[in-house]
Amino acid sequence: MTMIKTVAILLALVSNVLAIETVICNATQSCPEELPCCSQFGECGTGSTCLGGCNPMFSFNAAACMPMAICQDSSTTFQNYSSRVASHDTYLGNVSEADWVYTGYLYDYDDEDSMLLAMPKYSAGTVLSSTRFMWYGKVSARLKSSHLGGVVSSFILFSNVQDEIDFEYVGADLKTVQSNFYFEGILNYNNSKNISTTDTFENYHDYEIDWHEDYITWSVDGVVGRTLYKNQTYNETSKRYEFPQTPSKVQLSLWPAGNATNAPGTIAWAGGEINWNADDLKDPGYYYASLQQVNITCYDPPSYAPKNGTKSYQFIKSDSFLSEDVAITDKDSFLYSDEGSGLDAEKGKNSSSIASSSSSSSSTSLSSSSISSSSSSSSSSSASSSSSKSTSTSKTTDKSTASSATVQTTVAAATKTTSLSSEQSTAFVQNIKSSSSGTSSKQQQTSTGTNGANAISVGIPLAGILLSYLL
Ligand SMILES: *[C@@H]1O[C@H](CO)[C@@H](O)[C@H](O)[C@H]1NC(C)=O
Ligand SMILES: *[C@@H]1O[C@H](CO)[C@@H](O)[C@H](O)[C@H]1NC(C)=O
Ligand SMILES: *[C@@H]1O[C@H](CO)[C@@H](O)[C@H](O)[C@H]1NC(C)=O
Ligand SMILES: *[C@@H]1O[C@H](CO)[C@@H](O)[C@H](O)[C@H]1NC(C)=O
Ligand SMILES: *[C@@H]1O[C@H](CO)[C@@H](O)[C@H](O)[C@H]1NC(C)=O
Ligand SMILES: *[C@@H]1O[C@H](CO)[C@@H](O)[C@H](O)[C@H]1NC(C)=O
Ligand SMILES: *[C@@H]1O[C@H](CO)[C@@H](O)[C@H](O)[C@H]1NC(C)=O
Ligand SMILES: *[C@@H]1O[C@H](CO)[C@@H](O)[C@H](O)[C@H]1NC(C)=O
Ligand SMILES: *[C@@H]1O[C@H](CO)[C@@H](O)[C@H](O)[C@H]1NC(C)=O
Ligand SMILES: *[C@@H]1O[C@H](CO)[C@@H](O)[C@H](O)[C@H]1NC(C)=O
Ligand SMILES: *[C@@H]1O[C@H](CO)[C@@H](O)[C@H](O)[C@H]1NC(C)=O
Repeated sequence: MTMIKTVAILLALVSNVLAIETVICNATQSCPEELPCCSQFGECGTGSTCLGGCNPMFSFNAAACMPMAICQDSSTTFQNYSSRVASHDTYLGNVSEADWVYTGYLYDYDDEDSMLLAMPKYSAGTVLSSTRFMWYGKVSARLKSSHLGGVVSSFILFSNVQDEIDFEYVGADLKTVQSNFYFEGILNYNNSKNISTTDTFENYHDYEIDWHEDYITWSVDGVVGRTLYKNQTYNETSKRYEFPQTPSKVQLSLWPAGNATNAPGTIAWAGGEINWNADDLKDPGYYYASLQQVNITCYDPPSYAPKNGTKSYQFIKSDSFLSEDVAITDKDSFLYSDEGSGLDAEKGKNSSSIASSSSSSSSTSLSSSSISSSSSSSSSSSASSSSSKSTSTSKTTDKSTASSATVQTTVAAATKTTSLSSEQSTAFVQNIKSSSSGTSSKQQQTSTGTNGANAISVGIPLAGILLSYLL
């Protein structure tokens, strides 16, 4: 037993992945008070785990997750922007510091005034998320998807209770964009609808999600391709509208749905296995989606919403997570250290957050923090992270001069992550988790498995597909 455990720890050290002593959370088992926040991957933790993706349904209670920073109108032009994006694993919720957080690989591409979301060989790709939440509003993104079988790009709204509104771009069919939605993470395989357009890899298009209390439209280049009314989503059995309705982050991602280690149904949906020797992997060295701009316009929250402030949204019950259960408050949405949570947001306030975070990671258990801090020596430190991002050459026009040094570094980091051992039931969870451990961290630690953030957004539909193939 001890032997096995030691081996496991060594393996985890080597792979920079946490696979042991993880405290699990799910519908039957909430997080304990010491690690009160349930990540979207079903693991308990503190710190960044209590921010975006913190699921109040399975957390110690709804107050464990930090209040969600309120919507603000914005327009982000992703020109020479990668150095302004914070690492998801170290960001503690101060919205003055960053509008966006990421896991994975970002590169500036000056020739198109864009930022690339990249996916080096065998990696889990990249997830970019807004730091603020939107509670009804309009969001548009100008982007080029990636391409080829097994490679999926996405642009979605994603809430902490896993309401989701999606655009998905399956690289095997560049003339079709898939629209989809989910309610509280419940798998329903029948909600996807296709919208036709011209080659999404060759052309920038403007994709818009217009989210109202009683309907959603998905548009491409100003033309509505789909409308969903709330009244079409009533479930007679549960007696409720299964319509996305809770504060949501804006999220863009690129992920390897067709990786060989994924479930067969997932790979089939993605258009087959990824070719990790495609030309893109040689030059510029990775698959990529190109993002130029995101505009966010906030709508008024529902008139019935309890309101005693202007800073954040918060779920006010621990057993119901509908639109009626969200209040607008003056509570801050940031933490002072990786040990903090909504139960004690000021924890670590008097010590410097860097000092405190070196002793306790935002992830899960004691063993995880020791593993993560020792393994960080083999991954990147803050300096190399930001310098690799800012010096990482933009993909050049002929793409032949992309910085191979940068690419190699990134690939090395990615391959080091390997996949989580074991008991995860779905491939996408592993993907996303290894994505987070492949992410460079700004501090002298890499937070391990828990906060790959976000990407479950794409995982849920995947899980749906997977299940539908199994059924
Ligand atoms: C929750 O996790 C526990 C421990 O891993 C497991 O025994 C239980 O079956 C899980 N429940 C659900 C609903 O997945
Ligand atoms: C990118 O922005 C940095 C400052 O953040 C600046 O020093 C640099 O010159 C800019 N590069 C380009 C190509 O505009
Ligand atoms: C949030 O970040 C801003 C900008 O860096 C800084 O001025 C402010 O002090 C930070 N707030 C807290 C509470 O750390
Ligand atoms: C993708 O599959 C390769 C094996 O082909 C594996 O080594 C790698 O860890 C997988 N990557 C992810 C993100 O699952
Ligand atoms: C963002 O807003 C600006 C200003 O209104 C507009 O010119 C631009 O086309 C918008 N971009 C997208 C992606 O909607
Ligand atoms: C999806 O559609 C199939 C076929 O029409 C049906 O059998 C299934 O019950 C539907 N699933 C849900 C969750 O509505
Ligand atoms: C959407 O198009 C894909 C091919 O790109 C196809 O496999 C899928 O069945 C279509 N979905 C719907 C709902 O028509
Ligand atoms: C749903 O709402 C729309 C817009 O209010 C209305 O036009 C439509 O008739 C309603 N449909 C049903 C099934 O109630
Ligand atoms: C309606 O709700 C019931 C009970 O929660 C669930 O089993 C069923 O799948 C739902 N139907 C659809 C179409 O989602
Ligand atoms: C504001 O409302 C929230 C949520 O109901 C509550 O937790 C908080 O105590 C209230 N604050 C004040 C100052 O009343
Ligand atoms: C932080 O320091 C202030 C005074 O410096 C003290 O009053 C306060 O109790 C300390 N807070 C914590 C959480 O240690």
